[in-house]
Parts: sequence; structure tokens; C-alpha cells
Amino acid sequence: MNNKLEQLEQKKKEALLGGGEKRIEAQHKKGKLTARERIALLLDEGSFEEIGQLVTHRSSNFGLDKQKFYGDGVVTGFGTVNGRLTYVFAQDFTVFGGSLAEAHATKICRIMDLAMQNGAPVIGLNDSGGARIQEGVVSLGGYADIFYRNTLASGVIPQISAIMGPCAGGAVYSPAITDFIFMVENNSYMFVTGPNVVKTVTHEEVSSEDLGGASAHSVKSGVTHFTSPNGVSCIQDIKTLLSYVPQNCEEEAPAIPYEAGNELRPKLNAIIPENPNQPYDIREVIEEVIDNGSFFEVHKNFAENIVVGFARLAGKSIGIVANQPAYLAGVLDIKSSQKAARFVRFCDCFNIPLLVFEDVPGFLPGTDQEWNAIITNGAKLLYAFCEATVPRITVITRKAYGGAYDVMNSKHIGADMNYAWPTAEIAVMGAKGAAEIIFKKEIEEAADPEAKWKEKELEYAELFANPYSAAERGYVDDVIRPEETRQRLIRAFEMLKNKSASLPRKKHGNIPL
Ligand code: HXC
Repeated sequence: MNNKLEQLEQKKKEALLGGGEKRIEAQHKKGKLTARERIALLLDEGSFEEIGQLVTHRSSNFGLDKQKFYGDGVVTGFGTVNGRLTYVFAQDFTVFGGSLAEAHATKICRIMDLAMQNGAPVIGLNDSGGARIQEGVVSLGGYADIFYRNTLASGVIPQISAIMGPCAGGAVYSPAITDFIFMVENNSYMFVTGPNVVKTVTHEEVSSEDLGGASAHSVKSGVTHFTSPNGVSCIQDIKTLLSYVPQNCEEEAPAIPYEAGNELRPKLNAIIPENPNQPYDIREVIEEVIDNGSFFEVHKNFAENIVVGFARLAGKSIGIVANQPAYLAGVLDIKSSQKAARFVRFCDCFNIPLLVFEDVPGFLPGTDQEWNAIITNGAKLLYAFCEATVPRITVITRKAYGGAYDVMNSKHIGADMNYAWPTAEIAVMGAKGAAEIIFKKEIEEAADPEAKWKEKELEYAELFANPYSAAERGYVDDVIRPEETRQRLIRAFEMLKNKSASLPRKKHGNIPL
């Protein structure tokens, strides 16, 4: 028995070392943590239960039979994050560069199956050279087994991917199917084909960082939702995100204790500028309305004309979607529609109520937008709101023009409550353009066309650049003083907390992709 136990001790010691001390040192030299260090940072102290620590590969291709490492390049298991069950896999770059093959993939799949069966999030900490070249097609099969599970788990349990090293080839598609991607700045990249292939095919010279680094994907492509300066802050950010989301689609969004106080926020009365064309930062409105400092912004650097993120209102988790007048006047375009649609769908999957702040002059005109399918992409956001059954409230702070009025969570498409501030302008279009079209003849025939135009513009503005026509029809439930907004929202969300709504029976909808 003693011999057996000693043998076990020895194997476990080896497993903990991964590819060995030298390789761990090399990992640290690159400014990267090891798989086990990452897991230790993520999970509550002492809570990690490892699964499959003694698994090895079964290949003998290219001398692999002489190179076996316990764990096969991935550490998998479960534990708790702030007391809540969480499944995790962390690729171990010190073993075959974290490359994925049969045994490695089977371990990840096992974690995903357990997470699905037991209703808890899966966190993937990716750091891998991709498909293990020596093992051939089983590596590709292993990836596909994961993609399949990612898809089945989508909307059932939260899935989060952190890219903490290389992630190339088809390997990027597992993170892409998951709900959120985090990337570590200067130490991670994602691309389908790397710089060498790019050079051969398109003759473009580009570095890995420029092609698929954290900055490229947070600003240009929007593939990543978050970037962090290093591995430690990346893991901290993942934990923050988890605090806003339920364990699975059957649970309510999390809430923390809250004691009611004075909910009036007079600062809100002074945020909207006198001149309706002057910008302001919608984050100022968000920060005033929500619980102190609770805003956790998602996709911060991408499509900045819309702001999305999680927050708490009276302790309860909510999702916020807000037009941003400080960037492109808050116009809706292709990227902002995609960004907001994805966020709305996540919140709806996981029972997180939605709060919308609306100040939108309309959709962005132009050939670039039309030829790149603003129609299809704008429809994504429309569709996402239409099908969302979580409690949904909109506050119109200023402009609600044209189709954007409909799209931004109007009551016509299923929002539960719409409020407007006295500064709201709810109309088919801006007064200047409207006057030009409907009074064209009168303006042309006037002795002073400019003066006539101005007169008609004011006439139109008088009639429509306010919230009252919409309120008279009940499209807006109330026109409220900005300072009351927080209080009214707390009460309205409380009123909606038992909302039950369902969609017509169907296999699944066909969102315009
Ligand atoms: C087997 C691999 C490997 C791989 C790295 N290693 N990638 N072994 N299969 N895919 C091994 C290396 O041989 C090396 O082993 C160790 O990991 C560390 O790699 P280095 O190259 O020394 O590290 P570094 O300089 O940091 O470069 C990392 C790297 C590079 C950029 C990831 O290793 C690389 O380009 N690897 C190949 C990437 C690739 O083309 N993968 C296939 C993508 S296609 P030793 O023993 O020498 O230390 C794909 C298809 C997926 O993934 C399809 C899904 C549908």
C-alpha cells in the first residue's frame, strides 16, 4: 500500500509541474502566468477540485509516446468564485505549447458536460498553439467536439473565454461562440490565419499584435469584449463579470442587499445641454441613476456611439443599453447595432432586466453603411429587443427620431415602460429636414426662402420636438423630472419583477444574421 501511495504522490507531483520548471520559468519570462496560477487567482482559496489530473495522450506519432505529461496540457476542474460553483479549464502552455488533441479536448468536453448538467458557468483560460500537429485529425475532431458543446450550452449557462496567449486557426471559434471574450494586452492574439499566411496570400505585412492583438479586437473588430493590462487584472475582471450574471438560464439575476434611501438625484436635472445639438456623456446619466460605482462596461472601445454594460439598481443586476451623444451624436450604425443586439440577447438569455437610455438622431446615412448592410444589421437590434421577454424599460433623455425610436426598446416592440424627460424630442425626423420636405413648395415660393424655412422649422419643432404627443397617445407612460429617474425606475422594475412573458412556440427564430 505504501508503495502505491508513494507512486501516486510522485505522479501528482509531476502533474503539478506541467512541462517542468524551465518551461514555467519561460512562461513567467514572457510575463505570463501558468495555468495553475491562473486557476488559483480565479477560484476561492482551497476550493479547486481537479478532474483528470493524471490523463495523458495515447498517441505514438512522431515519438509522442516518449513524451507524456500528466494532464495533457490542460488543467480542468471545478471550484467556487465568491462562493458560487464554477467550472474551469486552463490550457498549460508549458506542455506541447498548450496544443489541443484528443485527450486534452476530452477533458475540456467533460467539464462542459458537467457544467451543463449542473447549471454553472464555464470559464476557459486559453493559451495554446492550436491543434496539436503530431496528432493529426483527432485534434481537429477535438475542437469540433468543443464547438458543438459551446453551441448547445449557449443560453443555458454563461460561457466566458479569456485569451491569455496565442489563439489561432479554427481554435478562435470556440471563444467566438462563448458569451464574452477577455484578452490580455500585448500577450495574446486571435486570428484565423496568422501573419505568414496573410503575407503569402495578400502580400500584406502585419505583426501578430496588429493583426489580432487585444487592441485590434477591442477597437476594430469587436471580437473581444474586454481587455486587461495583465493576467491578474484579466482574472479579476472575469470575477467582476460573474457577479452580475446568474448561474444558468433558470436562475434570476443576482441581487445584493440594498437599503432604500433618498433616491432623488438632482444632478440629473443639469446634464442635458440647452442646445439640442450639443453632446454630453451618457455615462454621466448612467452613473447618477444606478447604485454608486456599479457600472461594468462591456465592449468599451468598440462602436462607442452606443454604451452597454451591467449595473445594479437597488442592489439588483440590470443590463444597460444607451445611445452615446458624445460619439457620432449617438447615431445607430452597423457596429453599434451588432454590439447592442448581442448584449440584449445575453441579458435576455440570463434573465437580466434591461434599461435603455435613448438619445438617438436616427440611423447613419451613406453608401458605406447601406452597402455593408445597415438594413440587416440594424434589424438585428430590432429583432433582439422584439424577442426579449425580460423586464424592459426605456428612458428617452433627448432625441428619439425615425426608425431609431422604434428600435430603441419602444413599447410598440414589447418594452414594459417608456419614460421621457421634458427635453425629449420624439418625431419622424429633425425639424430642419422635416420642414424642408413638407413645406418645400412654400419655402421655394417665399420672397425670403431662408426665413420661411426657419419659420416652418420652428413650427414643426413646436409641434413635435417634445415628449407630449407621444405621452398623449400613451406611447410614453410618463414625462418625468430627470431627478426622479432613479426612484421611478426602482419602483417600475420592482413592479415588473414577476413578469412572465413567452414567445410563440417555435423551434427557434431566424434572426437576420
Ligand atoms: C504541437 C506545438 C504546437 C502545436 C506549439 N507547440 N504549437 N506542438 N502542436 N500546434 C510546441 C512547440 O513545438 C514547442 O515545443 C512549444 O510548444 C512552445 O512553442 P514555441 O514555438 O517554442 O513557443 P513560442 O515561440 O511562444 O510560439 C508559440 C506559437 C508557435 C506562436 C504558438 O509555437 C506556433 O506558431 N505554433 C504553431 C501554431 C499553429 O500553426 N497551430 C495550428 C493552427 S491550426 P518544444 O518542445 O520545442 O518546446 C489549428 C486548427 C484548429 O489550430 C482547427 C479547429 C477547427
